[in-house]
Amino acid sequence: MCGIVGYIGGKNAYPLLMKGLKRLEYRGYDSSGIALIQNQKINVYKKKGKVNELKVYCSDKDVSGNIGMAHTRWATHGEPNDINAHPHTSMKGLFTIIHNGIIENYDKLRRDLALKGYTFYGQTDTEVLANLIEYMYVKGESVNAELAVRMALSRVIGAYGLVVMCSEEPDRLIAARKSSPLAIGIGQGEFFIGSDATPMIEYTRNVVYLNDNDVAILSRNSFTLKTVDNDEEITPEIQQLELSVGEIEKNGYDHFMLKEIFEQPKTISDSFKGRINPVTKEVFLGGLSEVMPRILDARRIIIIACGTSWHAALIGEYLIEEYAQIPVEVEYASEYRYRKPIINKDDVVLAISQSGETADTLAAIRMVKERGALVLGICNVVGSSIARETDAGIYTHAGVEIGVASTKAFTAQVTVITLLAMRLARKHKTISDERYFSIINDLLAVPDKIETILMSHLKIRDIASKYTTSINSLYLGRGYLFPVALEGALKLKEISYIHAEGYAAGEMKHGPIALVDTNLPVIVVAAKDRYYEKIVSNIQEVKARKGNIIAVITEGDNELRNMVNDIFEIPKSDPVLSPLLAIVPLQLFAYYLAVLKGCDVDQPRNLAKSVTVE
Ligand code: G6P
Repeated sequence: MCGIVGYIGGKNAYPLLMKGLKRLEYRGYDSSGIALIQNQKINVYKKKGKVNELKVYCSDKDVSGNIGMAHTRWATHGEPNDINAHPHTSMKGLFTIIHNGIIENYDKLRRDLALKGYTFYGQTDTEVLANLIEYMYVKGESVNAELAVRMALSRVIGAYGLVVMCSEEPDRLIAARKSSPLAIGIGQGEFFIGSDATPMIEYTRNVVYLNDNDVAILSRNSFTLKTVDNDEEITPEIQQLELSVGEIEKNGYDHFMLKEIFEQPKTISDSFKGRINPVTKEVFLGGLSEVMPRILDARRIIIIACGTSWHAALIGEYLIEEYAQIPVEVEYASEYRYRKPIINKDDVVLAISQSGETADTLAAIRMVKERGALVLGICNVVGSSIARETDAGIYTHAGVEIGVASTKAFTAQVTVITLLAMRLARKHKTISDERYFSIINDLLAVPDKIETILMSHLKIRDIASKYTTSINSLYLGRGYLFPVALEGALKLKEISYIHAEGYAAGEMKHGPIALVDTNLPVIVVAAKDRYYEKIVSNIQEVKARKGNIIAVITEGDNELRNMVNDIFEIPKSDPVLSPLLAIVPLQLFAYYLAVLKGCDVDQPRNLAKSVTVE
């Protein structure tokens, strides 16, 4: 979602901030803006649309200055236009701010401020906050900008990652965080601010991730950290950035999504590397070792997640129930947090999240923690909010994922949850040695098998080219491949805007079959497993109604090859691991279809990479 970048130091801020905004584009946004301090004056420029449009707009403006901040906005309050774009300036022009998150009580604050004579030019909650800070500053005696910010934030309900400039204190930036990430990069006589670390990686390795309620006051040579409600200084905890510039560049690929699809052989092996003993083949999950006794005593595991992570959770449910024989429930975090769920002390809750910042997942974690359950996380982003707020967890080690449509993070999540299921099954003695070693050995072979699938990418592109005029599509799967059908459908709709419905193949007769005609592509995930005969029957039913069938089949399956219109072949594997293989051609299919339709695959319309508002 929205992106923040800030700079204070000796360099020319404008090029650095614009480069930072480009880096943050992957998060999803619909307008952008910049503010620069020059000769005690704050120049603000903002524009609807892409960062390039802002750049063109700024080309004849004064963009000098060594202190500045910039923002990409993903609209929540008020339509995406030039006026509602950030930065926002208070009525008297004393404060300018950029803000990620939502001020939930903004309407009441706006009405209160209106009674005090404040007027507003736009519809955003951020403008209200700028005015509230100004009001605190103007009405109070000996209130400096920092105190005004802290006083205003103490009246705010909601989430924020923000940066504030005050025209009367033009030598500083003030940054604050609550439920919306903010990182401060520490340089020599300079500081960087980012909603993530990507804008600052070539300048510094030393970073402080703000905690909730932290307020950072930055001048060129000082970094003071306080909290919203406490004036005492606290010592910032400096961490080392492990990110490299190469990781956030396309490295010759046309799109990040394609690069990330092709990275999967490596990211999958990174996610199991060091966790499977090369000799004994036993699984070791260091992040869980301290809490393993509680996990083994769990009467139930509840998995909470959103989007693609929720699909990985479904595969986890099948695996853990089948092999570790622990009851599992999978819940959408956005539903779970508002239900009145029954949570017992011997339940274990597992949150899955690529970004580790998804607002609904985070809120659900906080809710279950209050009820005393052990909360585990499977996250990709190291040091993210979910990673920090869970009791223990496993990182997926998929590396930075920039494409909005999640690909390598999904396969890493599925790999990690497979390891977890195997570990629990082994401990509970609910899996035979033979079955266990066969699954582990097959898992080790998955990266090479994915390489084989990737080699057929041009064939997949050719098949995709036949379907560029489709409006609807249906994805079917059974068992472990049902979540793959859901995930394949999600990929297609996210980036190509073709309506795609994922369904359990057995449910087809209860509705979706009514859609089948000669125009409807039906993508059936039909690898050889114990459901195979059943899914062949479903294919026959579609065929009888003249549906266009594309099937993901196991190599050498001549029966299906001759029955369907198009095929994506995947190598033979243990059926419980077939999701890791079967999803790859579906990712490529969605990618090529979207590219052939001229869609912006890395930044699909309306979507955000990290959903930090509910
Ligand atoms: C957004 C992203 C999806 C992702 C979902 C959950 O919608 O576009 O790719 O699956 O959020 O995100 P998380 O970071 O919690 O896995």
